[in-house]
Amino acid sequence: MTDRIVLAYSGGLDTSVAIGWLKERTGKDVVALAVDVGQGGEDLEEIRQRALACGAVDAVVADVKEEFARDYLMPALKANAAYQRSYPLVSALSRPIISKYLVQTARELGADTVAHGCTGQGNDQVRFEAAVAALGPDLATIAPIRDLELTRDRAIEYAAVHQLPIKQSKKSPYSIDQNVWGKAVETGFLEDPWNAPIEDLYTYSKNPAEASREGVEVTITFKQGIPVAIDGQAVTPLQAVERLNVLAGNEGVGRLDLVEDRLVGIKSREVYEAPGAIALITAHEELENLTLERDVNRTKRDLENRWSQLVYDGLWFSGLKRAIDAFIEETQQVVSGDIRLHLQGGRATVTGRRSAQSLYDFNLVTYDEGGTFDHKSSKGFIELWSLPSKIAARRDNPLALSQDAVSIEATGAASLPAAEAAEAAAEPVTVERTQER
Ligand code: ARG
Repeated sequence: MTDRIVLAYSGGLDTSVAIGWLKERTGKDVVALAVDVGQGGEDLEEIRQRALACGAVDAVVADVKEEFARDYLMPALKANAAYQRSYPLVSALSRPIISKYLVQTARELGADTVAHGCTGQGNDQVRFEAAVAALGPDLATIAPIRDLELTRDRAIEYAAVHQLPIKQSKKSPYSIDQNVWGKAVETGFLEDPWNAPIEDLYTYSKNPAEASREGVEVTITFKQGIPVAIDGQAVTPLQAVERLNVLAGNEGVGRLDLVEDRLVGIKSREVYEAPGAIALITAHEELENLTLERDVNRTKRDLENRWSQLVYDGLWFSGLKRAIDAFIEETQQVVSGDIRLHLQGGRATVTGRRSAQSLYDFNLVTYDEGGTFDHKSSKGFIELWSLPSKIAARRDNPLALSQDAVSIEATGAASLPAAEAAEAAAEPVTVERTQER
C-alpha cells in the first residue's frame, strides 16, 4: 500500500485541484493533510470535507498550534530570529512542522511520496523538500504546480469542469501566507518595489497613525528565554504570542516592508506583519543584554544571524542548526526576569528591565561618590589592551613616528626592515589622559 501521495492541503484552489491532478498524472491515490499553524480562516473540518469531495482517499487534519508555538516559535524567540536583520521568519518556521506531519502521515498511511503546492520560484519549496529529505529520506517529493504544469488557468478550468466544491471568490492579487507568528504578503502591485503597501494588506495590526496616542504598557515575564506571564498573568507560549499579537497589533507594532534575498537567487519585495513576534523579540533581546555575559551576548548575536539564515534557507533539520540551538539553549539558562514594553505608534520600546539573574551592578556603574569601580585599575588595563596597537603603530603609522623617527627616515633608516625601523624610533607614543570615561 505504498502507491499513495500525502499532499499538504490548504483548502484553496491550487491544492484542491492538485488532488485530482496528481491522481491523473501519477496514478497514485492522494491523502490530503491540513495542518493548522494558526493561519485562521476556515474550520478544519470544512477543509477536510472539501478534500474528500475533491477526490482524496483520505483527509487528515492536525491542529498543531501549541506544538508550533512551543517547538518552533520559542526557539525562534530564543534566537531573536531576524533574517536580513528584520524578518522574523514567519513562513520559514511553519514549513518544518508541516513537513514533519507530512512524513508522519506518510508513515502512518503507507505513502511513498509527499506533495506540496509551491511554485518553483520561492523558498517554501526548498523548505518542504529539505525538511522531508532530513526526516524521511526515502520519500519522494512532487510539486504539481512546479513539476506537473498545474498553472493557475488550468486549475480554474479543471475546477469548473470537474465541478469541484471550491468557493471561487475573486482571486486575491497577493500571495499570502500566515500563521500565529505573523503574515507574509507578496506579489500583486507590491512587485513594483516603489509602490507603498496599502492598508488592506494588514490584518494583524492597526495603522500606527490611527492607534492610540498614549499607547499601552505591558510587562512580559520570561523564564529561561520563554515568556511565562504577561502583566502577571501566566501564559503558555501560544497564549503569549496570541496575546501580544493583539496588544502590539492594536498599537501598529510589527509592520515590515523590505526587499529580500531569496535562496533561489532572486530579490523579492515582501510585506510582513508580526506584532507579537516583534514585541517578544524586542523584550527578549533586552533581557539578554541584562543577563548574559558580555562575550556570550556578543557571540550569540553573530550566531543568531547564522541561525536565521539557516532557517530561512530551509535547513531547520540540519546539524549546524542543531549545534547552534545547543549553544543558544545553554545561554538561556539565565534569561529570566521582567521586561516592560511601551507599545505605541508602531513601535515596541523597552522602558524597564529587572532580573534576579541581572549582571547589572549599580555600585559598579554609578557615577556617584562611593561606587566600587576601581578607576585606577582601568589605567593598567588600557595600557596592555592598547599595547599591540602601539607596537604596530610604530611600524605602520607614519603619524605615530616621532621627530626622531622622521629624521631616521631622512637618513635612510627607513630602508631597514620595518621592525628594526620601529625599534629605531626612539620616542614611544604617549597615551593622552583626560577625564572622560
Ligand atoms: N518570502 C517569505 C519567506 O520566504 C514569505 C513567503 C511566503 N510564502 C508564500 N507562499 N506566500 O519566508
